[in-house]
Order: sequence, then structure tokens, then C-alpha cells
Amino acid sequence: MAMQALQWQDETLHVLDQTLLPNEVRFIELHTLADVWEAIKALRVRGAPLIGITAGYGILVGLHEKNPGDAAGVLETVQESCAYLATSRPTAVNLFWALDRMKKVAETHAPSMTHAELMSRLETEANAIYAEEIASCRAIGEYGAPLVPEGGGVLTHCNAGGLATGEYGTALAPMFRAWELGRRFHVFADETRPLLQGARLTAWELSQAGIPVTLLCDNTAAQVMREGRVQLVIVGADRIAANGDTANKIGTYSVAVLAHAHQIPFYVAAPFSTFDLSLEHGRHIPIELRDPKEVTEGFGKRTAPEGIDVYSPAFDVTPADYIAGIITERGILRPPFEKSIAQHTTMVARDV
Ligand code: MRU
Repeated sequence: MAMQALQWQDETLHVLDQTLLPNEVRFIELHTLADVWEAIKALRVRGAPLIGITAGYGILVGLHEKNPGDAAGVLETVQESCAYLATSRPTAVNLFWALDRMKKVAETHAPSMTHAELMSRLETEANAIYAEEIASCRAIGEYGAPLVPEGGGVLTHCNAGGLATGEYGTALAPMFRAWELGRRFHVFADETRPLLQGARLTAWELSQAGIPVTLLCDNTAAQVMREGRVQLVIVGADRIAANGDTANKIGTYSVAVLAHAHQIPFYVAAPFSTFDLSLEHGRHIPIELRDPKEVTEGFGKRTAPEGIDVYSPAFDVTPADYIAGIITERGILRPPFEKSIAQHTTMVARDV
């Protein structure tokens, strides 16, 4: 059930161009830092953990492109590349988390390592980010699988599967694992306007895995809940504040309110790389605004009057009060989240 949306091979970054799915499965090569920036901005690679993984390898792409001659030049290039990639998308904190890791490695080792040693150490760090995210997704699957109801319905919003992460997904990981364990259930995938990650990606990914899935227009979720066909909601996250408030794809907040109204447990699934403990509340999370054209002429067809005013935030923030639990690689965190998040945050400094 593992999905590979990215490969680092022969010092080249290959990514699955997700804007082409589900019609075409095509890997593209990113040769320059500008290619990496554009791929993130245009959602060729997307989903918080995958954006972080791409950023880690993106730093290597920048180094191979600029080809600095010594360790000091490597450090300078890494610093410049981090600043540049940080401007691609503002909400998923995994981007900044991965860039910080790469920068810290360069800053720590540039004074003592040779050029070759530092390049190799940076590649090791990018590989470690990728490997850790894969392992986190597996663990999220293990912790979350028992929540999936035998014979029940699970609703998800946007795409938080293997396409958005390392291999296994976050919100989809408990479903993949439960399915592997022999549990049978049905998934409802919101189509996720305006860029249709639910229709193009989640419905595709689940179908590929042989898990029964029904696609819903976003405005259908309430009706399906009222019909008693949904027993669980699991979504991913782009940034989780210290109090548990969670930014995820626009429309997630309304799903959470609906789940609350129908007394259906609403879970968030995310690795710790998605937590931003520097933010006390979700209202401080920066929300990306997207190009109005994605709403008025998405996928090449004009569906609104010329010149119409559009408001298109890419994400919204679900208040922690609506969240039954956050499924992480360290277990399921329960309210009050200020306490459970703090308890599960390892304060041990990592070796760089
Ligand atoms: O704009 P996108 O497609 O990058 O938004 C993705 C989401 O909102 C996902 O739900 C989130 O990043 C979690 S991915 C495991």
C-alpha cells in the first residue's frame, strides 16, 4: 500500500507530478532550486510532510546547481537556498522544520568539515528526514488502526495519504493498516474544492489499494453523516499549535463542526514535524491565499464571471475543542492538548 511520490537517485530529485493525477502518472526531474520552488508552489509536490521532504532534497539540488568550491561556500549556498524555499508556501510548518534541520547541519559542520564531508553529511540529513517521515507514517498507522470501525464509514478531507508524505500517509495510514489487518470498512472522500485533492488523489490512492471509497462533493458531508453512514473522521494537518488547534485544507473546519453536531469522533493524524510549539494558538498560524484563478477557471474552464472578487484561503484552522484525538508516531494525544502535546514532546536535543 506504500506510495512513493519522490525519489532521490543519482544526485537527481524525481517527483511525481501530482497536478497530472489521476490521468497521468509521470515523474519529473527537478534540476534547479527554482524548479523545486515552483514544484512546491504549484502543488506538483504537496502535503505537509512531503513538502518538508522535498525541501530537504531541494537544498541538495541547490548545491549541485550552484556547485560551491569549499565548505564555507556550501554553508552560504544552504543559507540562501533555505531563505528562498521558505517563500514557497507559508502554512505547512514541515517546510520550515526541514529547512532548519538542513541549515543547522551546515552551520554546525562547515567550520570543521571538508567540502566533500559536508556535502555527504547534508545528503545524510535529507535521507534521514525522508526515512523518519516514512517511519512516523507507519507508527501513525499502527496507533490509528484500532479506531477504524469494522463495517463502518470513515470520512476524510483533502489528501493525507502516501502522496502527501513518505509512503503511507497520515490520515490514510490507519485505514491502510486496518485494511491490511483484515478489517472491512468504507471511506468517504470529500472532493476538496478548489484543487480537488480528494477527488484526484485520495479517491485514486484508495482505489489503487483496493479500499472501497465513495467520492463526495464537499457540500454532501452533512447529508451522509445524517444518514448514519459515517462513524469516524480522520484528517491530516499542515500545522498544529501548542494548544492543539489544527490548520488543514480549507473545509476541514466545517467537517469538524459537522462531526461535532452528529457526535462523530473527529481525529487529526500528523507526525511531530507538523507541530509548531512556538505558536500558542491556531489563530497565529499563517494561512496561504491562493490564486483566484484556481476558483474561477480551475482545470482550464471558466466557471465564474470575469473580474469577480474571490477569497481563496488554502487552509482553515479547526479549534482543538472539536478534536477527539491527534494520532501521532508517539501515540494518540487526548485533550487537554496543551498538556498531552507538551508531555509527548521530547525536549532532548538531537545530535547534528
Ligand atoms: O494544499 P495541499 O494539497 O498541500 O494541502 C494538503 C493538506 O491540507 C493535507 O491534508 C495536509 O498537508 C496533511 S498531508 C499528510
